[in-house]
Amino acid sequence: MPPRKRTKAAAPRTSRTAQVAVQAIERINPLTVDLAVTLGTEHPLRLERPIVVAAGPLGFGNEAGSAIDLREVGLFVVRGISLRPRFGGLMPRLVEVPGGLMHAVNRENPGADEVIDRHGASWRSAPCAVALSLVASSVKELAQLIARVERRADELGIAALEIDLTAPCDGLDGGRWESSADEALRLIDTARGATDRPLIAKVSSAASELRRLASESIDAGIDVLSVSGSPHGFLPDRARRGPALAAGIGELSGPLVRPAALAAIAEAASGAGAPIIGGGGIGSPADALDTFAAGASAVSLGTALWADPRLPGAVGDSLRRAVAARGETSVLALRGSALGSRHE
Ligand SMILES: Cc1cc2nc3c(=O)[nH]c(=O)nc-3n(C[C@H](O)[C@H](O)[C@H](O)COP(=O)(O)O)c2cc1C
Repeated sequence: MPPRKRTKAAAPRTSRTAQVAVQAIERINPLTVDLAVTLGTEHPLRLERPIVVAAGPLGFGNEAGSAIDLREVGLFVVRGISLRPRFGGLMPRLVEVPGGLMHAVNRENPGADEVIDRHGASWRSAPCAVALSLVASSVKELAQLIARVERRADELGIAALEIDLTAPCDGLDGGRWESSADEALRLIDTARGATDRPLIAKVSSAASELRRLASESIDAGIDVLSVSGSPHGFLPDRARRGPALAAGIGELSGPLVRPAALAAIAEAASGAGAPIIGGGGIGSPADALDTFAAGASAVSLGTALWADPRLPGAVGDSLRRAVAARGETSVLALRGSALGSRHE
């Protein structure tokens, strides 16, 4: 048999998509990706990074800078403050539950004036934008609270105000504002009349009429919707034959809330509405990417920061890489990629 002619092995065929991806990786250097986002149009909120520290876990301000590197963060949301001091619940008020935490801290704070006096200087010098989370149980109380903080907000460099719709409302017999879209919209409307600052409304995955709230809250005056709050939980303590928390019902956080949080983010994002800060249970850069894929324009980190203070930096790096891999230059290119045709 004559020797077989050696032929050059055919190069493996590469799909067009793969070629584009390879070219994109070669073209875009992740370091050149711009992580800055501007959320909202009427009163735009500019964040150098789409990474938010959720209200609460890192406190009011003084403690935050020593816990994490705030240069890796776009927005630090100060733990909830109210017009008058609020006292926390009885102990135990924070317990571990399978997959996360349950707490009933009840938005404990010494009142707006005291918090501003003690922590205002740390907000002014923070290397990221700072928002105040406002807790009020009535429309009148919120108007008074905003008037109080507005007196000093410019001097302290406050970038935005967050209205806590997961807090109890007197008009709903102590139920959450978010359990009635009408009540929530009334509160937002009042807030809009009291400030020209960017307004964020914070809800949880348990909010009712989320899609309606997402679209109508823009008309009521909101700039950004934060779908990152804690749903409620309850767990018995068998040994004590009572509830695990002294208050009985508490707020859940950590990985166990993540799937429900993603569902709520996707629902809020599926209609035309306010840009979304998404969170609840984010514990890794991959979780953060999933949150963008579900429709968020920025992510919020909470409980996970206790275990991993470097998470904001890791999230920023992985967002840059993911954007570059798509051949894009803006982080908003990642938004809604998992929503398919539902995303408008
Ligand atoms: C100890 C603690 C205190 C919190 N305090 C507040 C608060 O003052 N205001 C608020 O809106 N949310 C508060 N939260 C809820 C978080 O901001 C966040 O919405 C929730 O923990 C879900 O996100 P995560 O699973 O990433 O922690 C608190 C959470 C924890 C664990």
